[in-house]
Amino acid sequence: MKRAMLSMAILVAGTVSATSAEIAPEDVVFKDGAVETPLTDKPGDPANGRKVVGTKKLGNCVACHQVSEMSDVPFHGEIGPSLDGVGDRYTEAELRALLVDAKKVFDGTIMPSFYKTGPYIRPGKAFTGKAPDGPLPPLLTAQQIEDVVAYLKTLKE
Ligand code: HEC
Repeated sequence: MKRAMLSMAILVAGTVSATSAEIAPEDVVFKDGAVETPLTDKPGDPANGRKVVGTKKLGNCVACHQVSEMSDVPFHGEIGPSLDGVGDRYTEAELRALLVDAKKVFDGTIMPSFYKTGPYIRPGKAFTGKAPDGPLPPLLTAQQIEDVVAYLKTLKE
């Protein structure tokens, strides 16, 4: 019985990895501050990336960064550098690394790690003082990261 369940689990896991063409947060490979391999098979969509950058519930990058091209979005913060021209300052692989886990690029930065599930200092489960159940999902999906990278590449000097 135990054995049957085990082979079933392996079967299920096999099916999942065969259909999803996504690199999981814990499998992302960093090399010299860059992530060369795209996180998904689908090319990034700059229009959707722009939405993620400017939307509070998504990336909310504008809370900390100014983007001149986005004058339609209100309240740009000045905590981080302006994103104008980042498409010239960084390669695609460097931008991807920065978004996945900025802490691996800028030591001790306050910029959030957008594609990471841990280890974190995890927030407690509401009012119980206990850790939440299960791993926390990353802030953005693999596709959203690729979309934001595609958008940032359009920001030239
Ligand atoms: C809480 C504030 C905060 C948020 C939110 C944030 N960042 Fe940052 N970001 C920073 C800071 C601060 C830096 C500068 C690095 C450092 O010295 O810490 C930075 C650096 C960068 C850089 C490098 C800029 C350069 O010219 O060197 C890029 C690109 C960037 N962020 C993109 C983004 C994107 C895209 C998002 C949203 C998905 C985002 N950031 C969200 C704070 C933030």
